[in-house]
Amino acid sequence: MFAEGRGAVLTDLDGNQYLDFAAGALTQSLGHTHPEVVEALTAQAGRLWNVHDSATPDRADLLDLLARLLPDQLDTYAFFSTGAEVVEAALRVVQATAAPGRNRMGALRHGFHGKTMGSRMLVHWDVGHQSFSGNTVLGYAPYCYRCPLELEHPSCGVRCASLVRKHIAEKPNVSALVFEPVLGAAGVIVPPPGYWDQIAEACRAAGVLLVADEVLTGGGRTGAFLASELLGIKPDLAMLSKGTANGFPFAVLAGRGDLLRRPEAATTGAYASTYASNPLGIAAARATLEVIERDRLIERVRVLGALLEDRLGALRSRFANLGQVRGLGLLWGLEFVTDRASRTPAPEIARAVYTTALDLGLRTSLGGHILRIAPPFTLDEALLDEGLRLLDKAIGQVVA
Ligand SMILES: Cc1ncc(COP(=O)(O)O)c(C=O)c1O
Repeated sequence: MFAEGRGAVLTDLDGNQYLDFAAGALTQSLGHTHPEVVEALTAQAGRLWNVHDSATPDRADLLDLLARLLPDQLDTYAFFSTGAEVVEAALRVVQATAAPGRNRMGALRHGFHGKTMGSRMLVHWDVGHQSFSGNTVLGYAPYCYRCPLELEHPSCGVRCASLVRKHIAEKPNVSALVFEPVLGAAGVIVPPPGYWDQIAEACRAAGVLLVADEVLTGGGRTGAFLASELLGIKPDLAMLSKGTANGFPFAVLAGRGDLLRRPEAATTGAYASTYASNPLGIAAARATLEVIERDRLIERVRVLGALLEDRLGALRSRFANLGQVRGLGLLWGLEFVTDRASRTPAPEIARAVYTTALDLGLRTSLGGHILRIAPPFTLDEALLDEGLRLLDKAIGQVVA
């Protein structure tokens, strides 16, 4: 049972300490209880908690900050509380603005968008209970390690993307493609070069909106404020949540003004809900993003990411059960297999590594046969080394 967290370190009820390489729920970009976020929240807690979606000075400042941090075309914003809530808000904008007959949405296999019914319709794999795919059209995710077409990159010519492109061109009833630029929950699936170029171009040509679910990747985690920027995608709408308010429930819908302000989308109350835009969330987001901007933490993510890449690559060369290690910035997935030839997923090994690492003092994030490593941006090199030493030891103990 965890009792408290400071920076990258958690302490349990018995006083044992753990390095948190899962940053809470991939939320604590600045680490646990960052003093400036605590101060902003504490001051706000004594001032004002809820005025529905009325204007406040902090809200105006946060809007300015987002305008500086986000790509130019994403110039209009609405605030929410959770990932699933902001995904639903984006789906409502798509529905409200879709041309008649464009009554379906595109999504990618292996994408994850939340557990409310609308977001669940976009999720086509079993995430704890059976999938409930609705009115969506599916495209291949760029999962090279387990290529659905049984091809190898780069000789495949990124065939998965050409099939998605063909699909988009042939389905005149698709209004939007909702996607994670890097697929996080499915195990940090990083697309090969060219994947998004082809798909984004096909969407533009067909008038299909690009809706980037950056709930997990947004806010700097991959080494750019949005992963879309790294991959050359210019989304029409983007959703951010996890890293934006350092773990306080908060989410941002960012979009092209001409879409979000279209009368069909911007009906009275369309972007309001009870806790959306609450001053506490705004205070936490403002403090978090100000620190990220002021301390140039996204550059730091790139520096630490390069170190992680080297060190995790070295781990892979030592342990045959590590089938693949992949990631960007401070978001990495370690895929465990029974052996490299068959690539059979090994969830029992992944779970054993997860629990052994935790016993040794390292917290990671487990999903099936994949461990995710996503430390806070504020980590220093010494703690990065220490975490990797514990991970190395944990894998060694499990597969020895
Ligand atoms: C890409 C993505 N979208 C949406 C969600 C849903 O967010 P929440 O759990 O806050 O509803 C998640 C959560 O992990 C996510 O990773």
